[in-house]
Amino acid sequence: MPLKKMLLSAALLGLFAVLGTALVAFTYENTRERIAQNERDNLLQSLHALIPPELHDNDPVADRIEVSDSALLGSRMPQQVYRARKDGTPVALALTAVAPDGYSGDINLLIAINHDGTLAGVRVTGHHETPGLGDRIEVARTDWVLGFSGRSLANPAPEKWKVKKDGGVFDQFTGATVTPRAVVGAVRNALLYYQEHQEQLFGYAPDAAAPAVPAPEQPGEGKPMTPENTHG
Ligand SMILES: Cc1cc2nc3c(=O)[nH]c(=O)nc-3n(C[C@H](O)[C@H](O)[C@H](O)COP(=O)(O)O)c2cc1C
Repeated sequence: MPLKKMLLSAALLGLFAVLGTALVAFTYENTRERIAQNERDNLLQSLHALIPPELHDNDPVADRIEVSDSALLGSRMPQQVYRARKDGTPVALALTAVAPDGYSGDINLLIAINHDGTLAGVRVTGHHETPGLGDRIEVARTDWVLGFSGRSLANPAPEKWKVKKDGGVFDQFTGATVTPRAVVGAVRNALLYYQEHQEQLFGYAPDAAAPAVPAPEQPGEGKPMTPENTHG
């Protein structure tokens, strides 16, 4: 190929690369805001499914803090706490937590707790459980997860915070006990976390990262539910 043709091809290639990059950058800039707004709207919708909008007058998405407690919240990663208040008075909060002992690893949860310590509701926000077996924790598939609403650390009694197969009150699924067992344990741990930190959780300024909480060493009933102490 003559040199002139080669140079022309190279210049054309370069031009297309620059144009392509500029187009991607332009599209990204223009959609970034919209994507952020959509994510925010989706989050608010998820929160309102658990904490009805008429119960609060603040913006729980903005009234957010980060907390860390790998033992009770199931992850080394910071978790989010969204607070709902009416006239400045705490109404409820929703926190993210992880059940690390699902059949296929982490199960991500959004757990809403009323100020009095009763559960406003629980939703599974992400998981890798087996379709047809473990995925029955999704509210889109069964109403199993709705059974947590109104429960608290005292309801049922601590020794009954287990799936029925382990002597507790919560249903397992036919052929799939591991997944619901993991979720029941994570929800109870989140309630323990709330019990220990209730007042501080409503006290931190929005967007604050609450101090990391060391793993508690509590024997007996307050002990975090782990795969070791939930079986049988
Ligand atoms: C391919 C395969 C996928 C499975 N997926 C799940 C699952 O997602 N969730 C679950 O709880 N059990 C799942 N199970 C069943 C568990 O291995 C286990 O038998 C069941 O949860 C009962 O547990 P248990 O013996 O502790 O009662 C799966 C089994 C197989 C063979």
